Amino acid sequence: MIYMDNAATTLQKPEEVKQAILYALEHMGNAGRGGTEAALDASRSIYAVREKLADFFNAERPTRIAFTANSTESLNIALKGLFQPGDHVITTVLEHNSVLRPLYWCQEQGVELTILNCDEKGNLSYEEMENAVRDNTKAIVCTHASNLTGNMIDLKRVGQIASKKHILFVVDASQTAGVYPIDVQELGVDVLCFTGHKGLLGPQGTGGLYVREGVEIRPLLCGGSGVDTYNMHHPSQMPTALEAGTLNGHGIAGLGAAIDYLNRIGIDVIREKELHLMRRFYDGISQIPDVKVYGDFTAEERAPIVTFNLGDYDSSEVSDELNEVYGIATRPGAHCAPLMHKALGTVEQGAVRFSFSHYNTEEEVDFAIRAIKEL
Ligand code: ALA
Repeated sequence: MIYMDNAATTLQKPEEVKQAILYALEHMGNAGRGGTEAALDASRSIYAVREKLADFFNAERPTRIAFTANSTESLNIALKGLFQPGDHVITTVLEHNSVLRPLYWCQEQGVELTILNCDEKGNLSYEEMENAVRDNTKAIVCTHASNLTGNMIDLKRVGQIASKKHILFVVDASQTAGVYPIDVQELGVDVLCFTGHKGLLGPQGTGGLYVREGVEIRPLLCGGSGVDTYNMHHPSQMPTALEAGTLNGHGIAGLGAAIDYLNRIGIDVIREKELHLMRRFYDGISQIPDVKVYGDFTAEERAPIVTFNLGDYDSSEVSDELNEVYGIATRPGAHCAPLMHKALGTVEQGAVRFSFSHYNTEEEVDFAIRAIKEL
């Protein structure tokens, strides 16, 4: 199989990730529950990964990183825990349902929502974003890159708007963490939600959120914390405040090894290769008659995604053919980004998405271009 569905999840993981998970499975007790060697092993291992993530995103300190199962959980914690009835929140049509659905839930509780539109290439207007801020605006919530088009939002620019207007800035980094450098302090990000299983090259079931010091999030879950047992309330100190129950220590160990790998290879090297493959693929297919590519390819910075349709064919039919005849794995249909599909006019047809990993090769890309030409 030629795997080109890396925006859904990266399939190939570094060898050290597998080794770290195996080691953890054989050695890890329950972190924060007792003082046995096994329990301490788990606590040390999890804390070390917190430190690695804090360094990776330039958080003030490791305790500002809480672990979750994925971006969806991180975003639910952040969005349901930050806003109150009467607050106004700004978001965009680029968002995934992991942002939209928690925000619609907030709207049902009385939060006001403004959803910013995009142009025909899928780009936002930052002027419109700034003009949308009102007296009761609490936050701008946006993705770093559309999972459908690969278009990126300029976090620095949004961070400046948020800071100028004294509002919070919440970022969904699902498609960019591990591919683009994200310095939360430099970008003015207050809450960063990330998943471990995509660009970070960790296992599924890992993820987390960074919460800037001073930002209070009401916990979504409460329960076992391993500390302060006789308190009727869940501890309010980060990161325990946002973590209840036994953590996915085995997966977190794998995520830690993945961060070591990214630091060793260098995310600049990884990104350059992925963008090179993406551009080669785009150049190879964009001139084919009847291929309609979505998104803005004039932008230098993009997520390594190329999404298109072939004539009037249903995207699932095209993706099935790619899979069955050519052994190429892609994602078709609707990509959990309903408003982006509406903006692009692809609600009925869906779209075929190719998304690249640095493990892909030029030969694989050329084979995929030939496959599309044949189709
Ligand atoms: N959010 C993932 C995607 O874009 C699953 O495919």
